[in-house]
Amino acid sequence: MKCNILIHPDPRLKKVCAPVADLTDELRTLADDMLETMYDAPGIGLAAPQIGVLDRLIVVDCVKEEGEAPRPLIMFNPEVIASSDETNVYEEGCLSIPDQYAEVTRPKVVDVTWMDENGNLQQETFDGLWATCVQHEIDHLNGKLFIDYLKPLKRQMITRKMQKLKRERARA
Ligand code: NI
Repeated sequence: MKCNILIHPDPRLKKVCAPVADLTDELRTLADDMLETMYDAPGIGLAAPQIGVLDRLIVVDCVKEEGEAPRPLIMFNPEVIASSDETNVYEEGCLSIPDQYAEVTRPKVVDVTWMDENGNLQQETFDGLWATCVQHEIDHLNGKLFIDYLKPLKRQMITRKMQKLKRERARA
């Protein structure tokens, strides 16, 4: 089932999310719904708070090449345990901040641990776009958005645009 994606500014996007203690069928269904919502958007990552659920859960799939098999990852309690000194700059966007993009600098390579949908602990090294995407989504679990990396003026400009968009959507 497709979910409604919250648009910034929203207090739920500023909250620190709670760790997932027990993997339930409800949470697995939620993760599947998030993947469906992400692919439909379309996007390459989605965090639970973006659909109003304040649990530490993200989904990502950064496979972009046409014809390449998709690689959906469901990550409960994802955590960056090591990051490279080398950084990467990507033009980031966010499904909660539609049509706004800005360059953000982050570590190029990160080691990440998480619990998968079967309750198994996973660890993987991510590079490039995958690394950026996973870091962006984990930020969401800590109430942080990519615009929080921008200069205040730019951030305020984007926030005002989003407030206008929300007013327009509410009227429609
Ligand atoms: Ni985002």
